[in-house]
Amino acid sequence: MPQPTEAPDPPDELVGPLERGLAVLRAVAAGPDVRHRPGDLARTTGLARSTIDRVATTLVRLGVLRTEGRDLLLAPGAAGLGNAYLASCGLPELLGPHAVALADALDESVSVAVPDGDGVRFLTQATRRRAMAISFRTGDLLPAERCAPGALFAARWDAADLERWRARRAKDPLDAGFPSVPPRPSSPPDPVEAEFLDRVREARTTGIAVDDQLIEPGLLAVALPVRGPDGAVVCAVSVVSHTSRHSSASLAEQALPPLRRAVTAMEGALEGATAVTATDGAPGASPAASAPGLKEELGSGFLQSLARGLDVLRAFGSVRGPARLSELARLTGLPRATARRSLITLRHLGYVREESDGFTVLPRVLELGYARLSGLSLPEIATPHLVALVLRVHESASVAVLDGDDIRYVARVASTRIMHIDITVGTRLPAYATSMGRVLLGALPAAERAERLGRITPEALTPRTVTSREGLDEAVTATAVRGYGWVEQELEEGLRSLAVAVTDGAGRAVAAVNVALHAGRGTPEESLAALLPALRETAGLISADLSSVGRFSRVSPG
Ligand code: PHB
Repeated sequence: MPQPTEAPDPPDELVGPLERGLAVLRAVAAGPDVRHRPGDLARTTGLARSTIDRVATTLVRLGVLRTEGRDLLLAPGAAGLGNAYLASCGLPELLGPHAVALADALDESVSVAVPDGDGVRFLTQATRRRAMAISFRTGDLLPAERCAPGALFAARWDAADLERWRARRAKDPLDAGFPSVPPRPSSPPDPVEAEFLDRVREARTTGIAVDDQLIEPGLLAVALPVRGPDGAVVCAVSVVSHTSRHSSASLAEQALPPLRRAVTAMEGALEGATAVTATDGAPGASPAASAPGLKEELGSGFLQSLARGLDVLRAFGSVRGPARLSELARLTGLPRATARRSLITLRHLGYVREESDGFTVLPRVLELGYARLSGLSLPEIATPHLVALVLRVHESASVAVLDGDDIRYVARVASTRIMHIDITVGTRLPAYATSMGRVLLGALPAAERAERLGRITPEALTPRTVTSREGLDEAVTATAVRGYGWVEQELEEGLRSLAVAVTDGAGRAVAAVNVALHAGRGTPEESLAALLPALRETAGLISADLSSVGRFSRVSPG
């Protein structure tokens, strides 16, 4: 059955601030604009300007929104809400590896999608994008009638579901409410419904659905349902191709046998997973984010019941499958009555469902910014934090990744001070002579580190550059031991640089962040004392964002 939409009678126990907070978050997430003026949000949500301000203060403090000047934007912390659904349903973790294996075997894109009302929500994609203009992100919503999985899900609709679908189409015939698909060219004539119902009938009879260019010219897909241990359809797996390589018939012929085997393996994975119920302490599961101190710190500007409601939502991420009220209360440290009121509100808004075995978080949660955030790259995540760091320390700051024997700059914010060295995004510098390079080399497994250091032939870029094998080895080891990189005029005369690691959710150093300054600015000790705490804080914030966004999506290094 499709997910229930809004309950007909709003229960009187709804938590108003949670309801309003989620309305604001939805409005910020909906796009197409990335930046939102509070006044515009008041107009789109119908809320008072003073309410918008209090909601914004709260959501900014919780890391769900951020500000740039007077504008409000989504912050990577909002991905934690979608992560709760993705962890709780277990589908990316259980089915993702099978989707990747199928994509490798067929050399075509493979995606997993779930029903969400009368739409289809994408959860994972193993991508081989070639001739296609379009690419979906985790969390994107498609109209059921414009993709292969939709026909499979609609095969189980009842008359009321079909009526809801018709009403949506009558209200939005051009699919403006689905920003991830190209709009229909004009008000479509009625065959849309007849054709969809044909495909639904076919899907019901054959158990297969085909998309022959429903989204855009050239795009083909064939999909099969995946059933849970109770026989109910949980999601659909699609193999996606292009008319330059296949007709819909040849795609089905080639893809169906391996697709069927993948579905069998996926159903086995779902079956095996029912034994696991609690994934307590799973990485990224961070309930109690609304630390008690915030209310005291921010007073009436902080909406505690909004913060608590989001805690309840995030707590689902620590439980695989349905969660009991008592469990959610324990995980959040909230009284049962408080957690229950949040759950009633979340149920009313279509974000959770209540059944005899407890509450289940629903894919609609992904509408709260997940799709947009899952598309962020490392530079996009890092830059706002670099801006804040530069404002604080008045020196230039950058993020770089290891690329062969070099570091490559992927984000940079320059201070207004004049520097000798002219670095822009894309600049490559030898890893051995830079603080960021030493951090990244120092984080490599011992054998790889030795292999890399053994391969390079260091050059004396200044009289101070460490060039001996032993000297470099020592410098890199010392960097790893003390947890920061320090390079004093080894790359360029007069240039001092301090760096620390940026880690992903698994604790791997995937990048480094540095502050570079003129060596004449103070003694090394003074620079270290003035800069290291701020630099570490910045690295911590970037790493936390990376962990939220990257938990179920690949973050491009830029
Ligand atoms: C996709 O994963 O991009 C996809 C899946 C099914 C479709 C179309 C596209 O019908």
